[in-house]
Amino acid sequence: MTNREIIVIGGGIIGLSLALELKQRSRDSRVTVLSRDDREAALYTAAGMLAPQSEAIPPGPMLDLCLRSRSMYPEWTRQLQEISGIDPGYWACGFLAPFYAGEEADASPPQHNLAPSYWLDREQIREFQPYLGEEVAGGWWYPEDAQANTGMLGKALRTAIAEVGVELREGVTVEAIVQAKGRVAKLQTTAGDFTADQYVLATGAWSQQLLPIPVSPKKGQMFSVRIPGAGGNTNGQTNSKFADLPLHRVLFGPYTYIVPRRDGTIVVGATVEDAGLTPYNTPAGIHALLGRAMRLFPLLRDYPLERVWWGFRPTPPDELPILGSSPCENLTLATGHHRNGILLAPVTAQILADWMLDGNADPLLAHFHWRRFQPSHSPAYEENGGNGDRGTSISHVSPQDGKTMQFATPKHNFDSNYIPEWNGSSDRLEIGDRCFRSRLITGTGKYRNISEMQHSLTASGCEMVTVAIRRVQNNAPGHEGLAEAIDWNQIWMLPNTAGCKTPDDAIRVARLGREMAKMLGQEDNNFVKLEVIPDPTYLLPDPVGTLEAAEKLIREGFTVLPYINADPILAKRLEEVGCATVMPLGSPIGSGQGIQTAANVQIIIENAQVPVVVDAGIGTPSEAAQAMEMGADAVLINTAIAQAKNPPAMARAMAMAVEAGRLARAAGRIPVAQRANASSPLTGTITS
Ligand code: GLY
Repeated sequence: MTNREIIVIGGGIIGLSLALELKQRSRDSRVTVLSRDDREAALYTAAGMLAPQSEAIPPGPMLDLCLRSRSMYPEWTRQLQEISGIDPGYWACGFLAPFYAGEEADASPPQHNLAPSYWLDREQIREFQPYLGEEVAGGWWYPEDAQANTGMLGKALRTAIAEVGVELREGVTVEAIVQAKGRVAKLQTTAGDFTADQYVLATGAWSQQLLPIPVSPKKGQMFSVRIPGAGGNTNGQTNSKFADLPLHRVLFGPYTYIVPRRDGTIVVGATVEDAGLTPYNTPAGIHALLGRAMRLFPLLRDYPLERVWWGFRPTPPDELPILGSSPCENLTLATGHHRNGILLAPVTAQILADWMLDGNADPLLAHFHWRRFQPSHSPAYEENGGNGDRGTSISHVSPQDGKTMQFATPKHNFDSNYIPEWNGSSDRLEIGDRCFRSRLITGTGKYRNISEMQHSLTASGCEMVTVAIRRVQNNAPGHEGLAEAIDWNQIWMLPNTAGCKTPDDAIRVARLGREMAKMLGQEDNNFVKLEVIPDPTYLLPDPVGTLEAAEKLIREGFTVLPYINADPILAKRLEEVGCATVMPLGSPIGSGQGIQTAANVQIIIENAQVPVVVDAGIGTPSEAAQAMEMGADAVLINTAIAQAKNPPAMARAMAMAVEAGRLARAAGRIPVAQRANASSPLTGTITS
């Protein structure tokens, strides 16, 4: 197909470079770039280093990819300049990588046989580069590492794509990638829906906002100074006093780089921080950078400060890019370039255009496939036994005392032969169009580690687990790698909108959750646990906002499980608008106060035609049993399990309590009497 429609999501360096390549190679195709806010992109915030050697990338596919891209840069930028008329500031300036006395100096860099590099001792390095800090004791010279002026490169790329006919839609936020039958069906955006034949995800540090791929932001703070006497900013052009400037190469010292531009600016970077997408500089970050920069190149201590800023690296757990096909047939991934997005732009564009237009998979592509993050086997617990009649058992090493404990995992089916009129094996919890044997729903938050969570899920026998989409997106502590840690062939995902304060926010996150479930193989999963919680202290849900969001989500085809205060009128209204359950709270989230709202929950149960799930507040198995004895259809328990001293043991106890409570409800309790009533009947006893 030569006249296809392609949409690239992301207007950063990767998105623009690939769009340019696609359009140049397939002139009849319509190529559109959707860009939310390009000022956030690394294209404008990065220093523009093209430096695989200085970055000490070890030999292997990543170094091969980086060296190939570095070698493409001169011709790639020449062509860019030809199309755009703008000089992208490519400068083969070389990199000097100094070491300090007493600190580790690796005199044999791992890639020395792949590209030229020269060791300089204390005297040689000073002769080569004056004004270095006193403590510099030697270093490596990498003549082929280079730089591009990112601001100019950005201008050149934007002009070039316009020249060749790529349409750039700025200020458009993609809110959801809607999938159907393993393909992207459309993009929901702030500017309406977009459809195409092929899509590219090139959203860098923001990728998790659209897909459950493990790319988290690593923040970098930076600053710039101007060399006094270098004149005013010449907008990237070589300064007239260039030859007199004191630095003509990049200094790549420990945790710091100092990047001179030809116009007399010096860019200094960068911190590496797990600070999420926090949009500001910090005194600590800039303080650390200033100290390191002055230690390396003391001359700049008196230079006028020009600017401070920050950017976000898109970083997968293995720090390697994610390139090529995705779980959706018509979606290509081009993200996760970590520290090397500027460097890898030409090669990424080349090999992905080969792949998308001609189906040619470069041999290097296989090393950067997203599937490397998929669990190759089920959760890391040892299964013993596995006899279907007896259930299975797992062993768990307690983090408190290191003792190994064995737990039988629950067997869902009662042996109903022994219980007349109770067919436990056909007792099912029906929600929407799905049936569950287990009536215990659990969560993934607040566990001390992933392994403890995996053991607990197994011990609980639960079949549905709620996942806070926002926290997975933001890689909140305890949520890194969560999507990969659970066997979603066995467990139904219940995405929740925790952290959403408004109905709109919750709707957006619900859509994201649906796409995440699809991406993890649950194509028909439209479930959402709806939480609209404006109040951060008591975590009480907003009844009006919940009803509003529920109505909209139901119209969009969601199976909505709303989390509510135990308000019988609200529960009825939610049922009437089409919610699949109601989930009244027993007491505030995470409080373990038990079912404080018993009287209202009882009314909700009596009136509900949909399952009632008691959610929040349950602290002990007796309280879980109480909810079930009252007639609740299920309970949702997270904190009481995750924060127990031994979570898998508590998970098992909760599972047993839920089963006991359910069976007790069916068995029918005796009425409460005012007086004692002897257990052994008195009739027939002999009295004197
Ligand atoms: N490419 C340099 C950095 O990420 O800080």
